[in-house]
Amino acid sequence: MLSYRKYSDDDFAHVLKLLADSHEFDSIDEALLKEKLYLDPEWNPDICFIAENEAGIVGFLQAVKRNIKEEKLVYIKLLAVESNFRRTGIATALLHLVEEEARETHCKKIRIYDAPLNYFMPGVDPRYTPAICFAEKNNFKRVGEAINMEVDLAYSDWDVSQKIENLQDDNIYISRAEELDKEGLNRLLDTEWELWKFEVNMAYMLDPIAVHVAKVKDEIVAFSVYDGNNAGTGWFGPMGTHEKIRGYGIGGVLLALCLKDIKKQGHRKAIIPWVDPIAFYANYADAKISRIFWRYEKEIN
Ligand SMILES: CC(C)(COP(=O)(O)OP(=O)(O)OC[C@H]1O[C@@H](n2cnc3c(N)ncnc32)[C@H](O)[C@@H]1OP(=O)(O)O)[C@@H](O)C(=O)NCCC(=O)NCCS
Repeated sequence: MLSYRKYSDDDFAHVLKLLADSHEFDSIDEALLKEKLYLDPEWNPDICFIAENEAGIVGFLQAVKRNIKEEKLVYIKLLAVESNFRRTGIATALLHLVEEEARETHCKKIRIYDAPLNYFMPGVDPRYTPAICFAEKNNFKRVGEAINMEVDLAYSDWDVSQKIENLQDDNIYISRAEELDKEGLNRLLDTEWELWKFEVNMAYMLDPIAVHVAKVKDEIVAFSVYDGNNAGTGWFGPMGTHEKIRGYGIGGVLLALCLKDIKKQGHRKAIIPWVDPIAFYANYADAKISRIFWRYEKEIN
């Protein structure tokens, strides 16, 4: 008999296997799942559901709530149903549990996978066709797409030491971030890119600190980050240069420093997720569009 309950830590290994088996275009390992669950800033086992029957765990859904620009949303962050038990209504039943929670807590919208701060994928890769069918059957509306690019790290040695020296003539100093830069960087994020604060601070916890910064007169004016989300997968970003200092080539240097670090970790490719300025990455890193994700939203009455 099929039953539904909340996730408990003892389920971890089974859930990991289910997710890994179900996401054929991606890989997920123990470290990554721990990050998705336990390192999420709004990890909440009360909205993380298991479906099980005599065969064991056959369905899993992790939801998280976020307050984004004063709007309360629920994100389905991970979802999978064991292949032998698909098309029997399990994912729909899991979704209903999330909808109930959304209604009770006055969250107006549910989205699928594109959860800012910490996410597995920035939407649904349409090659997961059953997931697309599932979303549309359940009245989710397509509200946009997200693009990932990929960099072949063999393209360059990413050495920008000369450029760093040249920028010093304009009083722009670029280096790996240090602990004492944290406050200034968070100040910049608070005013310009608040939604990126979590990822940047995740990268700050790594050794070496996976953040590079540019300073003018000790003020942090630009930054770049890797491993702030999906750590260990060659994940770049976010990065930003304050408007007042754009056009000096700072972004290209900060990007290269991260790509050099990612290459040093042993990766052959770097992923640049959820990209907006496609031409910037194509120009500086010969990055290519590698994946497109569809973003879905459902309004809850
Ligand atoms: C997407 C997924 C979770 C759906 O789980 P499920 O338990 O099979 O979904 P349901 O049985 O609740 O399906 C509900 C409806 O979705 C649609 N649907 C689901 N799978 C479908 C498929 N393979 N083909 C066509 N329609 C499908 C149907 O309309 C279905 O209703 P119906 O069977 O009455 O026609 C499952 O296919 C899965 O685990 N896929 C791999 C992992 C994945 O893609 N995760 C989500 C990434 S965003």
